[in-house]
Amino acid sequence: MIRKILMVVCILTAYLHPGCQRQMNQAGNPDSFVEANIDGLLAKMTLEEKVGQMSQVNKNGEDGPADIENEVRSGNIGSFLNIADVDLRNKLQKIAVEESRLGIPLIFGYDVIHGHRTIFPVPLGEAAGWDLDLVEKTASVAAREARAVGIDWTFSPMIDIARDPRWGRIVEGAGEDAYLGSLISSAKVRGYQGCDLSAPDTMAACLKHFAVYGASQAGREYHTTEVPLRTIRDVYLPLFKAGVEEGAATLMSGFNDLNGVPVSGNKFLLTDILRNEWGFEGFVVSDWRSVKQLIPHGIAEDETQAAILGATAGVDMEMVSRTYINNLPRLVREGRISQDVLDTAVRRILRVKFRLGLFENPYVDPDVQKSVILAPENRKLARKAVCESMVLLKNENNLLPLNASLQSIALIGPLADNQKDLLGTWSYSGRSEDVVTVLKGLQDALGDTCKINYAKGCEIDGILTEGFSEAIEAANKSDLVIMAVGEGIMHNGEAHSRTNLNLPGNQLQLLKEVEKTDKPIVLILFSGRPLTINWELENIPSILLAWHPGVEGGNGIADVLSGRYNPAGKLTVTFPRNVGQIPIYYNMKNTGRPFKGDDGDTSRYIDSPNTPLLPFGYGLSYTTFAYHNLLIENQKVKIPGAVKITVDITNTGDAAGHEVAQLYIRDIAGSVTRPVKELKGFKRIYLKSGETKTVTFNLQTSELKFYDINMEYNVEPGDFKVWVGPNSVEGLEGTFELL
Ligand code: NOJ
Repeated sequence: MIRKILMVVCILTAYLHPGCQRQMNQAGNPDSFVEANIDGLLAKMTLEEKVGQMSQVNKNGEDGPADIENEVRSGNIGSFLNIADVDLRNKLQKIAVEESRLGIPLIFGYDVIHGHRTIFPVPLGEAAGWDLDLVEKTASVAAREARAVGIDWTFSPMIDIARDPRWGRIVEGAGEDAYLGSLISSAKVRGYQGCDLSAPDTMAACLKHFAVYGASQAGREYHTTEVPLRTIRDVYLPLFKAGVEEGAATLMSGFNDLNGVPVSGNKFLLTDILRNEWGFEGFVVSDWRSVKQLIPHGIAEDETQAAILGATAGVDMEMVSRTYINNLPRLVREGRISQDVLDTAVRRILRVKFRLGLFENPYVDPDVQKSVILAPENRKLARKAVCESMVLLKNENNLLPLNASLQSIALIGPLADNQKDLLGTWSYSGRSEDVVTVLKGLQDALGDTCKINYAKGCEIDGILTEGFSEAIEAANKSDLVIMAVGEGIMHNGEAHSRTNLNLPGNQLQLLKEVEKTDKPIVLILFSGRPLTINWELENIPSILLAWHPGVEGGNGIADVLSGRYNPAGKLTVTFPRNVGQIPIYYNMKNTGRPFKGDDGDTSRYIDSPNTPLLPFGYGLSYTTFAYHNLLIENQKVKIPGAVKITVDITNTGDAAGHEVAQLYIRDIAGSVTRPVKELKGFKRIYLKSGETKTVTFNLQTSELKFYDINMEYNVEPGDFKVWVGPNSVEGLEGTFELL
């Protein structure tokens, strides 16, 4: 009977998902059936079983039980992470469902960050495509593949704003902008969760790391964050709010100390904002041992106190460390923590398990993966994602696309015939052997007509120069050189902060030696963060930023080099000239003494320009676009209302291509200071050579809100500047006034 009721619930929930509304528990929707089932379970659960649901264990039982199976049987484990093996998953699930007292299924979480086995470009690269539809599709493919191997829940999207490229995890997010980041956050949740979380090809998303982790001081991993509340609200939280509104099932609390209160024990964030303000009804998982780490942070004296702080702040499930299971049952018995805290957390966790359909369909058919993993259509999408992620940073004399009459090309560099590093960080289930190298991609694209002379030249992070002569020889006997250099897989990601953002090892030295041959050089730059590529930009005629592109890297790169695809990617993060400029981001404040090109006492350095090496929003194409006829239809607008802005864009070059037109505003005077520019819209359009299109933005006055002098979220009347252009420093300028 209970199964039948649950089936009806699942079907109704899916059916009634509004548009497909993904809210966890719309008022009046039939989730009340689920709630009733949860009530029934809670009434039967022991304290240990409740805390078991709140405990997530790493696949090998790290920090915890030696006999995992027995712990599952006893109801002491509610979730596992890091299992991507259907058979093991089904085995553990069977113990939970058929051998534990209440038969509550386990939920299996995993880091599916930019694809499961079909690895897409790293998130910072994918964001450079400014293509929300594509972001949704890649997440959806990731979910299909992951669910096929029994992963119910991904620890993604990572939506930490990062303004400091020294921080290695900048690669995992969408860059420095809250507006774009919020849209990407929603798109990822849509892609992972689809309309029906219980479908066999969707999985629960996890918005992480809540919150402000990206502001780690000096870009050093796990470091303290000190950020004013207004900036937290205006810059860091909107991405989480967007994901919550999209219906994300879970959130992860981070590692960082935020203004003196580590976020995994931060009631203000986890309860006051997340629950009371935003009405989030899913559950919060801690990051890896981040509850226990409240001890070294210095707000808990011991595990008991850490457990109390974590649970009462609002961390529902503890990842890896065992402070909950070891302490909470006793603490309830001693009256030191209310049983309500446990019931609330367990309710949230069970709610997600119900929504995932785990009670109804706890097992995964091991045969499904055969037709899903690395399916041709998945690889096709990955190739498109590689093409869209690439940013053309420089293209002097139209060196790219490659001239079809080239007889020979020297392909040089440690990333040219390299599979592992192209996968990028957090590619857990990715396999090197799935990766198409640059060499292979070019051979397939050009090999019939053009000889490719390959030489590795050096290691990614080495000092040896003995490979240089072979590289120079390859260059000398070729018409053109392609250099494939940059960061390796271990140069960014978690715990990989850097203080030097030059090309690692002696790659720049190799580049300089090859440049002496006077051959035209195309540089393909692999990276998970902005690099300080001053010499390269000055001396190398063409530079294509390929990030870490994933399994279809070589094919996508060959598509762009050969001109089969015209690059249109734009940076979502500022490239500094030097580490001393950091933090540097486009939406800074003006200051009282803005630099105006003089050498007086204005805000500047005496040894470096203020301007970045490459600005936010920047990226070239094989064609050129002209912006004209900026029209602001209503220059005086009442609040609430909308400003209609149109601009004509013409493709003035010979090739067809995409352009990402960007809308920025500046609120000239507010009750608190406002950024010099803020992205408020963008359109990705396709134009044939000679074609003109009109792009329209309907800017709502509600989109101009910010936290005002009273910390209220308001839009204020006054003068605004507006720009529409190809990046954050160019564009046509106009004005409007809010009345
Ligand atoms: C630590 C990382 O900070 C987090 O992003 C990840 O999801 C967990 N470990 C689980 O692997």
